[in-house]
Amino acid sequence: MDCSRRLKFGIIGTGWIAESHVEALKQMPDVDIVAGADLIPGKAEAFFKRYGVENVRLYPSHKEMLEAETDLDAVCVCTYNKTHAECTIDALNKGLHVLLEKPMCVTTQEALDIVRAEKKSGKILSLGFQPRMDENMKMIKKVVDSGELGRIYYIQTGGGRRHGIPGSTFIEEKTAGIGALGDIGCYSLDMVLNAIGYPKPLTVSGYRSNYLGTDPEFNTPEDAARFDVDDFAAAFIRLEGGIILDFRIAWAMHLDTPGDTIIMGTKASLRIPSTECWNGSIGGPMKMYKDVAGLPVEFEFPMYPQTDNGQGIFYKKLRSFIDAIKENGTAPVPSSQILYNQAIIDGIVQSAKAGKEVEIHLEEI
Ligand SMILES: NC(=O)c1ccc[n+]([C@@H]2O[C@H](COP(=O)([O-])OP(=O)(O)OC[C@H]3O[C@@H](n4cnc5c(N)ncnc54)[C@H](O)[C@@H]3O)[C@@H](O)[C@H]2O)c1
Repeated sequence: MDCSRRLKFGIIGTGWIAESHVEALKQMPDVDIVAGADLIPGKAEAFFKRYGVENVRLYPSHKEMLEAETDLDAVCVCTYNKTHAECTIDALNKGLHVLLEKPMCVTTQEALDIVRAEKKSGKILSLGFQPRMDENMKMIKKVVDSGELGRIYYIQTGGGRRHGIPGSTFIEEKTAGIGALGDIGCYSLDMVLNAIGYPKPLTVSGYRSNYLGTDPEFNTPEDAARFDVDDFAAAFIRLEGGIILDFRIAWAMHLDTPGDTIIMGTKASLRIPSTECWNGSIGGPMKMYKDVAGLPVEFEFPMYPQTDNGQGIFYKKLRSFIDAIKENGTAPVPSSQILYNQAIIDGIVQSAKAGKEVEIHLEEI
């Protein structure tokens, strides 16, 4: 690692996820955290004190930070979803590299505006999908890339929790924009779409509901009263190349699992046990099903050993972003892919609202 070139980082939004960014950055000998911003008075100051980061210049919003700071290299956008687009576009327009937390934003239009700003800036924008750094997750893509599955034609993905509704800024439209669909759905979509090379989404027929989130006997009465996003979503999505994607996601349900992830191909299929993939792991050994000499056989893949020497997927998320900046490389998780992820999420929102299938049209940038 070349420590002669140090990078100056700013942190926008000092809530829960910013902790993992700062803990990882503190381990980097070639990074200085020099600035931080949060809308809530005193929050940024308490945050950096808590994590033992000194001499950080503090600001009451990302706008003041970007105006005042003249020699930042990069920022981590760790705000709630609703301000992802504004903070990211402002930072790119200032000529900074950006690591943006997931989901990319709330709407497809915002995602397109982000990609446009990124292209204009020539800077690196990477998205915070740390499960991609997990070796077992990587194995899914390796199996697909090996060609063993043949032509892929049907995928089922998603997952969820039985009792896992978050609180805080996640459950109101004004801060989160979308619920389980954006919060954990984006990971389930990324797990399979990344494996198959992110084909373009063409149409979406989607559904969203929030029966449990708004139920004061299931959720806390206080959170139920302010809950106005989805706690469950499902969709039937047509992808370029004649591939069908069947998706469902839940923060809460009266069920153990809405199903495993399956990738069906003309030569073989994969079953990935129902997984909390947002935690960066698969739910057990992957299984492949195929015919050998005319006989149906199946076998399990061993769980891949972790090779991170104690440095977890959050460290790798930050390190891969920093390495891309220093080596003039490309974004480890590029916006060109996550634009499609966001278009599916927004397609589900629009289709659920309209009560019918919608087409996805993305202007070229
Ligand atoms: N990668 C992961 O594993 C992971 C895990 C949890 C959350 N997240 C994502 O991280 C984001 C933040 O989640 P969180 O739990 O930390 O939320 P949070 O509400 O705890 O923190 C967000 C903070 O951003 C601040 N903020 C909003 N707009 C701002 C602006 N313009 N300038 C400065 N500060 C601003 C808010 O005041 C708040 O303190 C969400 O988008 C969430 O989806 C990612």
